Amino acid sequence: MIYLDNAATTFKKPEIVYEKMTECMREYCANPGRAGHKLAIRAGREIYQARENLAKLFNIENPMNIIFTQNATEALNLAIKGLLKSGDHVITTTMEHNSVLRPIKTLEKIGVENTIVKCDKEGFIKTQDIKKAIKENTKLIVTTHASNITGSIFDIKEIGKLAKENNILYLVDSAQTAGIYDIDVGRMNIDMLAFTGHKSLLGPQGTGGLYIKEGIKVNSLIEGGTGSKSHELDQPDILPDKYESGTPNTPGIVGLSAGVQYILDKGIEKIRQEEEELLKIFIDGIKDVKGVILYGPKDISKRAPVILLNIGSEDSSEISYILDNVFDIQTRSGLHCAPLAHDTIGTLERGAIRFSIGPFNTKDDIIKTIDAIKQIAKEVNDN
Ligand code: ALA
Repeated sequence: MIYLDNAATTFKKPEIVYEKMTECMREYCANPGRAGHKLAIRAGREIYQARENLAKLFNIENPMNIIFTQNATEALNLAIKGLLKSGDHVITTTMEHNSVLRPIKTLEKIGVENTIVKCDKEGFIKTQDIKKAIKENTKLIVTTHASNITGSIFDIKEIGKLAKENNILYLVDSAQTAGIYDIDVGRMNIDMLAFTGHKSLLGPQGTGGLYIKEGIKVNSLIEGGTGSKSHELDQPDILPDKYESGTPNTPGIVGLSAGVQYILDKGIEKIRQEEEELLKIFIDGIKDVKGVILYGPKDISKRAPVILLNIGSEDSSEISYILDNVFDIQTRSGLHCAPLAHDTIGTLERGAIRFSIGPFNTKDDIIKTIDAIKQIAKEVNDN
């Protein structure tokens, strides 16, 4: 099996992730932050450790400013809907995932204005174009760090600087980059950072989170039991409790914590170098193959490890099916929940096949995949 759908969910995970999750379930998975017994205290401590690991990775001063959610989508919804009010204006881009575009579209109905800035054919945004879209009432800029379809990496430091200079908040969707690329919320002027646990942070599905900079007023979207201030009927105003109602996903968060610890131990530089090396081999191996239409950035240093392509005029789902069933290579096909991004690069009508590299892929995986693409392209060309 050659698994190349890591941009959707990484598979496999480091051994330590499986071990820590099993240990949690077997030895101490009681309800954290509620009772005062040993098991509950251990569960609470492990969750705090997860916040500390993430704070270290993203250079966040106070781990309590990290809120756990189910995934990046929930985090983005919380940030966007919890912050924006009728009369506000938000700027975003055409490379965004539906997890950004749909909440923004929903808010249109209550009078939140938006501008969706067009990216170029390689999937890049010009910071100048964001600047031109700023209005009196612009409250928020939301961008991805890297596109989930082309891998185009945005200059979030430059956008963060623009936002700060104009007194606008900046929310970054790091679903495709956290754990591979450097993210420093202080240095990059990131006010809110949405992340997911099950991609390159190497945790399980059902985990993710949102960093909210100290002092930013974001309304909670869900209220309930937090284990704190239990005598009050109003939702506590302290972080992270304000946004974390109900029993948390303790085994999931423990797994995420182990994934982040693995990344901190190995170093994101090393993880990135390895993935970039495989990306280069992949692109060099297919770029001149007759019939292969390759999308996204030409400059590999500006591309997260995803490869998007079509072969001749074949249906992308058909190719993906052949890759899976004949070659045992797992990819994603069709549209990838980012319709405006597909429109921007010209694949809205037909979609495309996405190959996404993860930390456990090998050079041999990539060579075999190039070979499979060549064989399929030959068939297509010959017919
Ligand atoms: N957002 C995920 C992807 O790009 C699921 O495949």
